[in-house]
Amino acid sequence: MNLALTNGKVFIKGKLVKTNVLIQGSKIKKITSSKIKAIHEIDCKGKIILPGAIDAHVHFRTPGFEYKEDFFTGSLSALHGGITTIMDMPNTNPVTSTIKTRDVKIKLAEKNCLTNFYIYMAALNSNLEEISKAKNLRAVKLYYGSTTGNILMNKKSEIEKLFKLAKKKGFVVSVHAEDEEIMKQNSEKFRGNSNPEIHAKIRNEESEAKAISEILSIQQIIGNKIHIAHISSEKGLALVKKAKKRMNGNKVTCEVTPHHLFLDSSDYKKLGNLMKCNPSIKEAKHRKALLNGLKNGAIDIVATDHAPHSREEKTQDYWKSPSGIPGEETMLPLLLDAVNKKQISLKKIVEAVAENPAGIFGWKNKGFIKTGFDADLVIINMNGKTKIEDKKLFTKAGYSPWNKKTLKAMVENTIIGGQVFG
Ligand code: NCD
Ligand code: ZN
Repeated sequence: MNLALTNGKVFIKGKLVKTNVLIQGSKIKKITSSKIKAIHEIDCKGKIILPGAIDAHVHFRTPGFEYKEDFFTGSLSALHGGITTIMDMPNTNPVTSTIKTRDVKIKLAEKNCLTNFYIYMAALNSNLEEISKAKNLRAVKLYYGSTTGNILMNKKSEIEKLFKLAKKKGFVVSVHAEDEEIMKQNSEKFRGNSNPEIHAKIRNEESEAKAISEILSIQQIIGNKIHIAHISSEKGLALVKKAKKRMNGNKVTCEVTPHHLFLDSSDYKKLGNLMKCNPSIKEAKHRKALLNGLKNGAIDIVATDHAPHSREEKTQDYWKSPSGIPGEETMLPLLLDAVNKKQISLKKIVEAVAENPAGIFGWKNKGFIKTGFDADLVIINMNGKTKIEDKKLFTKAGYSPWNKKTLKAMVENTIIGGQVFG
């Protein structure tokens, strides 16, 4: 297979450059402004070409919860959203905590996942032996606060051991940082109240800040690589920023989700439990701080935390409704719409969804448009429109908090390893 992307503007070294891209097999063979010939050609006039997005945080629910999502539907959803690589979280059934359960999952993904993938292992208070023997670990997930799946690791002595192991083996520890005690106490206060708005008050800023501070205090001594997942509060972010300065390197990184960037607590009235997620979506000041953090580099990446549940589950009473929001199809359109609105630069967005996740999680040959790199690309029409509609979504969840919203920016084609979709 040999394919030319001609007449488009290609994102190279932080800028859009008018040039052509020749793809040979699964790789980028040549980037040149002279005419190129190929068996297949896509005329990209008026379009921009970006590196495919790497989504470092998804829940494709296999095995165990395939009624919510599976590798096929999750990855189909990713492709429609311009995402070419996904990193799948371990809170499945069984939990991905052993080499064996991980291997089973890898086999299932090899068969059914249309995108590139990585399968996380969960760190438990009891499985460090397994982690120490596992191969090809880019990252391990640590649930310091409980969430969907109830996999918890908050014993300091075990965390220290895990961090030492991470340092030795070179993998990243991605942390869900919320404090159990604070959340429990707050839950008591709101018992009997089923207004979804209480979610922001139960899983509040203090809970996130305390957990981040405790985790970082261990990490700062050991010096392993740590990644704070889905950061949601101003204080949490300030702590990460401080730690980054102290570490003076790339050992501390963090992530924000599109829903923490584009929704705030004023949306609970309309969306109710559909926007219930962990950590919670908080007041508008946090959203602003997170957007600023993304702009000034305090936040390294944007990842979806795509966490689908069935509509029936989500529309139950607050206390029964599971936390999680789907996001594969909406992340890039939302971010690029923000670029169109001049809320953030295209450069920052490409860093956050491609360049930085590639660097942090060790995806060699991905994240950049360069000769010899994998041909994982996305063709975007910045003047096109994306109308988000529940019934048109490919995720099994079948709903989005942005239902009926029209965004300026549209994913035209996604190319994975030289194969064109869309
Ligand atoms: C996630 C899920 O449903 O698996 N839910 C969520 O609200 N984010 C779990 C998680 O990542 O916390
Ligand atoms: Zn998650």
